[in-house]
Amino acid sequence: MRSVLVVNPKGGAGKTTVATNLAGALACRGEQVFLWDLDRQRSALGWLSMRPAELPLIRRLDQRLEDELPPALKRAFLVIDSPAGLHGRGLTQSVRHADKVLVPVQPSVFDMAASGTFLEQLREEKPVRKSRSPVGLLGMRVDPRTRAAATLGSYLAQFDLPVLAYLRDSQVYPNAAFGGMSVFDLPPSLSQRDREQWEPVLEWVIGKD
Ligand SMILES: Nc1ncnc2c1ncn2[C@@H]1O[C@H](COP(=O)(O)OP(=O)(O)OP(=O)(O)O)[C@@H](O)[C@H]1O
Ligand SMILES: [Mg+2]
Repeated sequence: MRSVLVVNPKGGAGKTTVATNLAGALACRGEQVFLWDLDRQRSALGWLSMRPAELPLIRRLDQRLEDELPPALKRAFLVIDSPAGLHGRGLTQSVRHADKVLVPVQPSVFDMAASGTFLEQLREEKPVRKSRSPVGLLGMRVDPRTRAAATLGSYLAQFDLPVLAYLRDSQVYPNAAFGGMSVFDLPPSLSQRDREQWEPVLEWVIGKD
């Protein structure tokens, strides 16, 4: 499977929002999608349990099943949501499962400091160090035209990792989540800007292959 780990030990960084919307985006594009929730709070699975049956299917995964997968699912996407506070062995194990690593960061001084410390640790993880698992950053709850985005962008520049996109702060996200939906399950009239903001993230996730 093509797996994407969404990770940032800072609580409330936007991991579950990113994981559920990424899963929704991929499902809406006709991809086979599995969601794996490593967080004991089970927020992503709670969201999935509310998802209306008529929307594009996202399946839950309770443990990595790579060897048992039928060939048709080898091309499926696995989106992994992770808990706050992930570090040490837990982080190492999670990164080992990831073909790509997506790190949401909010533009606050507290979030940036915590995320910076984390990005230093993440760079030391073997799959990242050996460039096997690319890391992409995502500015969360920030308008790309604002000073906050510029401040975040120049802070993140020191890590030499791509900032894939900035996702705006919008009630569309929590509102969609209440119904087990992503912004891609909403009418385009409500979510056009958000869909556009996600485009480079999806390109990075889906890649050429
Ligand atoms: N772009 C956004 N616009 C508006 N609200 C947002 C956005 N992104 C996240 N939120 C809200 O911020 C809160 C925290 O987001 P989320 O639960 O995704 O973070 P998390 O990193 O998974 O948190 P935790 O560390 O507790 O697992 C939620 O209430 C979510 O709805
Ligand atoms: Mg979460």
